[in-house]
Amino acid sequence: MNISLITSLQKQTPKALILGAFAKEKTLSFPKWPVGLKDSFRATPGAKNFTAKEGSFLFYHDKTACLVLGLGHKKDFKKEALRQIIAKTYKGQIMGKYSSASIHLDSFEITPLESIVGITAETLLMSDYRFDKYLSKKDKDGKRKDPAQNKTDISFLCAQADSSKVKKALAQAQKIASSINKARDFVNEPPNILRSHVYAKEIEKDVKSALKGCGVRVKIMGKQELKKEKMNLFLSVNAGSAFDPRLVHLTYSPKKTTKKTKHIVLVGKGLVFDTGGYSLKPPMSMINMKYDMAGSATVYGAFRAAALLGLQTKLTCLLGITDNAVNSSATMPDSIVKARNGKTVEILNTDAEGRLVLADCLDYACDQRPDYIIDAATLTGAVLVALGHEVCGLMGNDKSLMDRLLDSAKKQDEYMWALPIIDEFKKDIKSQIADLRNIGNKHYGGSAKAGAFLSEFVRDGIPWAHLDIAGVAGAQKHLPYCPSTGASGLMVRSLVQFIRHVQV
Ligand code: BES
Ligand code: MG
Ligand code: ZN
Repeated sequence: MNISLITSLQKQTPKALILGAFAKEKTLSFPKWPVGLKDSFRATPGAKNFTAKEGSFLFYHDKTACLVLGLGHKKDFKKEALRQIIAKTYKGQIMGKYSSASIHLDSFEITPLESIVGITAETLLMSDYRFDKYLSKKDKDGKRKDPAQNKTDISFLCAQADSSKVKKALAQAQKIASSINKARDFVNEPPNILRSHVYAKEIEKDVKSALKGCGVRVKIMGKQELKKEKMNLFLSVNAGSAFDPRLVHLTYSPKKTTKKTKHIVLVGKGLVFDTGGYSLKPPMSMINMKYDMAGSATVYGAFRAAALLGLQTKLTCLLGITDNAVNSSATMPDSIVKARNGKTVEILNTDAEGRLVLADCLDYACDQRPDYIIDAATLTGAVLVALGHEVCGLMGNDKSLMDRLLDSAKKQDEYMWALPIIDEFKKDIKSQIADLRNIGNKHYGGSAKAGAFLSEFVRDGIPWAHLDIAGVAGAQKHLPYCPSTGASGLMVRSLVQFIRHVQV
C-alpha cells in the first residue's frame, strides 16, 4: 500500500472516495464536504435513512464511487472506533476491489488533523498486512494470484496536506506500522525455516538495511559466548537442540545525548519453537508454539520503530533466541543449574523454559546500567486463563514504571492489566535443595509466579517490568486491523508510546 497526501482531486480521480459523517441531532450536515458531493449524496435514495450511526456506511455515485462512513455522535467519538471503522471499511469495501481510493480527511471533522492522519495511516498499513509468502500463487481455479494486483493506492485528501505537521504524522505512522508488520513477519515464520541462527541473521539484515544510519549496532553471541557469560540457565534450555542458541544484543544511541538521557533495556523471549522438552507438550498445546518468540519480535519491533523515529532515548535490546527441543542431551526434570547471577535453580518442568532464558538475559541486562528494564514474553498459558486473548499481563518491581506502562497502553488503546508479585508467590518458588525452583509448589497464579521467578534476576534498585504477551501475541478476532490468523503485533505501539515519553 502506498499512502500519499493531496490537497485536491484535480490531478487524478480515485476509483473510490471515502467521506466521513458525524450523526447530528436533526438532519445531517456536512460542513467540511465539497458542495457537489453533498448534493449528489442528498439525491441518493438511501440518503434519507442514513443517520451516520457509528459503523454504518452508504455507497453512492458521483464522478466516482463514494462511500460515506458513519462516525456516530461526536461527543462519543473514540480513536479506537475510528481505527475499527477504517480497518473494516478497508478490508471489506476497498481491498481487492479498487486499485485506488482517496480519503477525504477534512470531512471527518476531527482535530487536530495530524492525529487523524497518523491513526488512519497506521491502521490502514496494519490492516493491509498479509503473510502469504508460502502460498504457491494459485487459487482454486488454477489462476495466478498476484498479490500486487490487490495493491491499493490510498491518498489522504485534506486542505492542509502540505503542512509539515501532517507530513510528519504520516511518516511517523509509516515507521511504526512497518515495524509492527516486521514483528508480525518474524512471528509468522515457521520453525523449520526460522532456526535460531536464521532469526538472528534476519534481524541483523533488517538492522543493516532498514536502520542504516539510525545509530544502531548489532552484536550476535553464540553458544561459546553464552558459556563464557555463564548463562547456564539459557544454555540448559538449548541442551536438547540441534541448533545453537543466539543472544542478539542491539544498541541504539540517539544523535544527541546528555547526562539526563534515559537508557531502557528491552529484553525478549525468543523461543523459535517450544516443544516443552522432556516435559513434552501434548500435541494440541504444541500447535502455534512457533509464536513463542513473539516477545523478542515485539521488543525488536518497538526498538526498530524508536530508532527509525530517532527518539531521544538510549536503547538496548536483548533477544534470547533458542528452541526448546528434546534429544538425549536435553535437560532432564530434577536438574539443578546455576544461573548467571549465581543462584541455583531446580528445573522441575522443562516446559517452564522461557523464564530460564529470560533469567540470564535479565542479569545481563542489569550489567548494561539501565534506568529501566522491560521484558516481553509469551511466558505462561495461565495469563490466558486470567486475562483472555485480549489483555496483556503486566508485572514488575516498580509501581511508577508499571503505572507509566499502563498509561502508555491506555493512550494506544491496547489492553494491559497488572498482576501482583506478592511475597507468598516469591516463597512458592523457593526450593528445598536449590535457591529456586522453576515452577510453583502449588497450582494457580502461574503468571505472577513466573513473574516472581524473573524478579529474582533483577538487581535491587533497577526498575523492571514484565509483559506476559502469551494471550495478545496471536490472532485477535475482535480487532479488524489485526489479521484473523497469525501474529497480532500488539504491544509494539504501547512500548513505542512509553519510550517516546520516558524522558519527561
Ligand atoms: N510458551 C509457553 C507459554 C504459552 C502457553 C504461550 C500457551 C502461549 C500459549 C511456556 O513456555 C510454557 O510452556 N509455560 C508453561 C508453564 C508451566 C509448565 C508452569 C504453561 O503455561 O503451561
Ligand atoms: Mg514452555
Ligand atoms: Zn515457552
